[in-house]
Amino acid sequence: MPTHPVIAIDGTAASGKSTFSRALGQRIGYTYVNTGFMYRGVTWYMQEKNIPLTDPDAIAREISAVQVETLLHNGELAFRIAGVDPLPHVREARVNEGVSQVSQVGAVRKLLVAQQQALAEQAPLVMEGRDIGTVVFPQTPYKFYIDADPEIRAQRRSAQGETDVIKHRDAQDSQRQNSPLTCAPDAVRLDSGRFSVEELVATALEHLASRGLKIAT
Ligand code: DC
Repeated sequence: MPTHPVIAIDGTAASGKSTFSRALGQRIGYTYVNTGFMYRGVTWYMQEKNIPLTDPDAIAREISAVQVETLLHNGELAFRIAGVDPLPHVREARVNEGVSQVSQVGAVRKLLVAQQQALAEQAPLVMEGRDIGTVVFPQTPYKFYIDADPEIRAQRRSAQGETDVIKHRDAQDSQRQNSPLTCAPDAVRLDSGRFSVEELVATALEHLASRGLKIAT
């Protein structure tokens, strides 16, 4: 078991995972960690280095050579690759397009999963991604799986002014061999298309309390 409690949140692309996870983290005073940001940062770096994303061996070689740092700083995730914070670049259309390919590479997942697991030694976490409840922290009793109608998710992305390949990413993320996106059998399913963030957080708090999590109010 991790030293601190971990709330694992998985789900489809543009399902509102980040909004929900951040709101839940704020509500209970846990550090919010967006693991998609880490995979996006690695993707951006590979693209900057002109590594062909169709070449998993080249990606594996590059990830083993570059310095990747994952830490908590002032209650937030701080992620650096080759000393650079990729934040300004991670929502670019080319990153949306390439990230599912890079996320399939075993060496990338192995490195990032180990760094994600190490964060739970430092603080209680709300961690979101695709494999948090199934692979990164399968032993946590606190798991949610978020989804919404694909139309609603597509509208959400275009309202954010982004070009995203949601269907394509969902297909790649759930069909890959390595840690595919799937709902853990013990996860609570939430539909972000039918409920507001406040309602989702309220439902989550009830579930967490029923699982015995002590939350300071
Ligand atoms: O959460 P997001 O849409 O920003 O994630 C971007 C991509 O990163 C997603 O399409 C697949 C990959 N990812 C992953 O494979 N495992 C995670 N734990 C988080 C994200």
